[in-house]
Amino acid sequence: MSTSEPRLRIAMQKSGRLSEDTQKLLKRCGLKLNLSDRRLLAHVSNMPIDVMRVRSSDIPGLVMDGVCDLGIVGDNTLEEAALERELMEQKFAYIKTTALNFGGCRLSLAMPEEFDYQGIKSLDGLRFATTYPQLLNRFARNNGINVDFCLLKGSVEVAPRVGLSDGICDLVSTGATLEANGLKEVAVIFKSTASLIQNPAVLAPAKQKILDTLLPRIQGVMKAKE
Ligand code: PRP
Ligand code: MG
Repeated sequence: MSTSEPRLRIAMQKSGRLSEDTQKLLKRCGLKLNLSDRRLLAHVSNMPIDVMRVRSSDIPGLVMDGVCDLGIVGDNTLEEAALERELMEQKFAYIKTTALNFGGCRLSLAMPEEFDYQGIKSLDGLRFATTYPQLLNRFARNNGINVDFCLLKGSVEVAPRVGLSDGICDLVSTGATLEANGLKEVAVIFKSTASLIQNPAVLAPAKQKILDTLLPRIQGVMKAKE
């Protein structure tokens, strides 16, 4: 194998909600890679593929800018990044190569249990803690309300209790975190799963060939799981 042979570069979440399922998927596709060490660019030994392990919020940009050919990322993170980059006049185009059957969750608005919720209009003028200000803004705009936000990158559910915000806009999976923090879900604003995305530029033929081998395997693994 010559050293100049092109390698397909895939971005995945290093740790967090999607990392375990992503690792399992790549493994079931037959990719041999060692993700136990601290190497952040992991070399697949039996295919011309490198896996770059990063923060999930960095994945959309890495793919949109062409640093990585492909990425496995939650639709919530992807949509937030695309809206933000569009606003900043940065590249925000991508292709959703395939939806994946893991990482299901929803982005919801939640309020303290004692809040008297009378429909979306009762949220007008309130302040929400969130990691997803763009998705929150779009929802507010589409529903004719004004909301304020404060940015938290994690532990968002703590915000109302400590007086940082009136409510939250955050991911809900089982609902256990909401419940444990005295919050109730009042509106779902975005539904999400993980997706395989790709840079919109045409791949070099050699890289396309690698993808043509990988993609049916991914689809096969998903079918087997159904
Ligand atoms: C995620 C998400 C919610 C929670 C939802 O947080 O931000 O807080 O999981 O899951 P649940 O509905 O099943 O309780 P995570 O635990 O990843 O921590 P972080 O927000 O502090 O990053
Ligand atoms: Mg959380």
